[in-house]
Amino acid sequence: MGQTLNIALLPGDGIGPEVMDVADALLEQLIQRYQLPLAATLFPWPSHAWYQQHGQMMPEDGVAQLRRFDGILLGALGDPGPLDDPERFVLSDSISLGPLLALRKQLDLWACERPARWLAGAPQYLADPRAKDVDMLVIRENSEGEYSNQGGRLRAGTADEIATQVEVFTATATERLIRHAFERAEERARLRDTPRQFKDGKAAQVCLITKRNAQPFWGDLYTETFARIAALYPEVDTHHELVDAACMKFVQSPWQFDVIVASNLHGDILTDLAAVLCGGPGLAPSANLNPADADTPALFEPVHGSAPDIAGKNLADPRATLLSLAMLLDTLAPNHPAIGNAAQHLHDLIAEDLRQPFTGTRETGQRLSQRMAAAV
Ligand code: NAI
Ligand code: MG
Repeated sequence: MGQTLNIALLPGDGIGPEVMDVADALLEQLIQRYQLPLAATLFPWPSHAWYQQHGQMMPEDGVAQLRRFDGILLGALGDPGPLDDPERFVLSDSISLGPLLALRKQLDLWACERPARWLAGAPQYLADPRAKDVDMLVIRENSEGEYSNQGGRLRAGTADEIATQVEVFTATATERLIRHAFERAEERARLRDTPRQFKDGKAAQVCLITKRNAQPFWGDLYTETFARIAALYPEVDTHHELVDAACMKFVQSPWQFDVIVASNLHGDILTDLAAVLCGGPGLAPSANLNPADADTPALFEPVHGSAPDIAGKNLADPRATLLSLAMLLDTLAPNHPAIGNAAQHLHDLIAEDLRQPFTGTRETGQRLSQRMAAAV
């Protein structure tokens, strides 16, 4: 057997450790069952607990340590403190979410991919039967845009205060993101069992999201770049929606979308909406990738956050984290067919399990583990 691949597990805060417990146990079971060349390492950081002990969310060389892994699975970060504290998000979110943005930025994981597919048995919030056909991939810019942390507060705390939050959009990041969206759209069309039909019989579509009517500078940069790159992919249909209209259409007719490319903030918001279309926050996975650099480990995580309202109550659905783990295993599969089989098994197991009601974090984990043990 060749070399062992290493996976870093970062449980994080809130419900993160609860859902990671389930993922860790099932990963171990898959490793045994398929004799996978994989080893998992659990890290107590980044987390608020680590911060309380060490005064920082993770060690100085945290990112360097993680860079040596072949894949990273994160539970959730964010510890907004006591529920009755009106300042809780202000006080602790800036500390807690720092490392998540640092990981994405320092590892240059510039593309965030969030697939939204409704799996049979999952809660269906839209009455229209076509909502079962939802199969979209939102590709969110993950390195700059509205989350660039530029700006400041002038005369803070006075009646004359001025707050600025600068948005940064570069040609380089825009171009690589849009190009990646077209690549993915072509790939999805190739891999799809039943072809889809867009304008002029095209089998794939990329929809660009902007708010170019009100934010013309980056809106025009995105629009012009999109048009230039679209010309290189004549087999892919193109479309544009303003982000507010896209919100309406995600609810009215989400089945019409294929690949969607959006800025950091727009993608963040649209993917919480997309999560509900595929059954809720407990079922939506995501990947943070550097598609241009095979040596950078990708970071997989559920779309949801640390859910302080249900933390410690055994109410967190672990299946978004498990679907994220299946995506992680999938990225390691090309050179390791056994890992591909394990990823497929995990995905099928979750799909099958969705026909059962959610009965608790631990119970769902145990049920999945028993099903895996019983599978021939
Ligand atoms: P959230 O996603 O944590 O929770 C939103 C709602 O969804 C809550 O009602 C929660 O109970 C429910 N929910 C979330 N995950 C669930 C699961 N697995 N099963 C069942 N229900 C689930 O978003 P919220 O409350 O706005 O933020 C909480 C904290 O998480 C904040 O500190 C926020 O900054 C942070 N956050 C972190 C993210 C990350 O680590 N990637 C992403 C989003 C938020
Ligand atoms: Mg979000």
